[in-house]
Amino acid sequence: MDKIDVKSLRNRAEKDLKKAGNLKELDLIFKNYLGKKGEITSILRSLKKLSENKRKKTGKQTNELKSYLEEEINKKKLLFAKDIEKREEWLDITAPGEKHYIGHLHPLTLVRRKIEEIFQAMGFSVVTGPEIENEWYNFDALNIPKDHPARDMWDTFYLKNGKLLRTHTSPVQIRYMEKNKPPFRIIVPGRIFRHEATDASHETNFYQVEGLMVGKDISAANFKAVIQEFLSRFFNKKIKTRLRPSFFPFTEPSFEVDMTCLVCDGKGCSTCSQTGWIELMGAGMVHPNVLKAGGIDSKNWQGFAFGIGMDRLAMMKYKINDIRLFYSGDLRFLRQF
Ligand code: FA5
Repeated sequence: MDKIDVKSLRNRAEKDLKKAGNLKELDLIFKNYLGKKGEITSILRSLKKLSENKRKKTGKQTNELKSYLEEEINKKKLLFAKDIEKREEWLDITAPGEKHYIGHLHPLTLVRRKIEEIFQAMGFSVVTGPEIENEWYNFDALNIPKDHPARDMWDTFYLKNGKLLRTHTSPVQIRYMEKNKPPFRIIVPGRIFRHEATDASHETNFYQVEGLMVGKDISAANFKAVIQEFLSRFFNKKIKTRLRPSFFPFTEPSFEVDMTCLVCDGKGCSTCSQTGWIELMGAGMVHPNVLKAGGIDSKNWQGFAFGIGMDRLAMMKYKINDIRLFYSGDLRFLRQF
């Protein structure tokens, strides 16, 4: 074994310590002298090979150097840490970076775009209309008489200027018919407003997609085919639906379309009020009075119309059990899409 010179080792260690300007360099000194393969550690390991006298002397010197070095390294570490704290602004380039969230579309926007894409592929044009309406387009032209409960102030938000926030997308049917000659097929996605109590499947502000197809010999069978095709493409699988007879002043006959609740797979849950079905849309054959109000001769032309609850469709697509989540602004919810 080489001659052990603890004194010169100490000199070298002291010089290194003096030069050390940051935590990284201190760690390196620790590793070089006190680490598993460090010089001091090696000397201590080899002591057993020395004669008793030498072992005692060298052992004592080396242990003293070890304690000294450990103490000095710790002192300097504390100094560096204090320095960092003192600085008002500092950058720890070794700290893990903050995750940046990339912006994305709201689930309702994703769903609206998908709906538009599917209907456009089936020959429908996408049309929009105003959210602030007058009574004529929202009610009268749609064959909704003055005493209809939908006109009650508990359902409709009336504005001071006599106008109202549209309660459905159906007024756009009239607006479109006034300006366009049949045959045509359109969809109208849009925001609507109702003064009603909220629950897992009801909001006061939500979205509908109106559909209107007017042509020669259009029947309820065409409606069923279009809707089945739409739902299959939207959900990428066959969807169980049921048609229930219903009443809307602007369609005759009228029906409501339910689809099997995908949140519980039809077993029954709070979203579908334990029925296993979710009401998706109102629909029917356009009432002759409505065609007339839109300037279309009902003897030559027939059509079907529907109004889909877009939020409900989104709930089924993403298995969301409460409609209110869409409007909560809760980023934990929104970041999932
Ligand atoms: C109507 O609004 C009719 N204008 C639909 C229509 C159009 C019928 C064309 C015939 C021809 P209804 O009020 O049922 O109908 O609403 C239609 C759909 O909107 C419902 O099936 C449901 O999916 C959704 N919906 C209704 N109320 C709410 C609500 N408060 N919150 C969320 N979605 C709702």
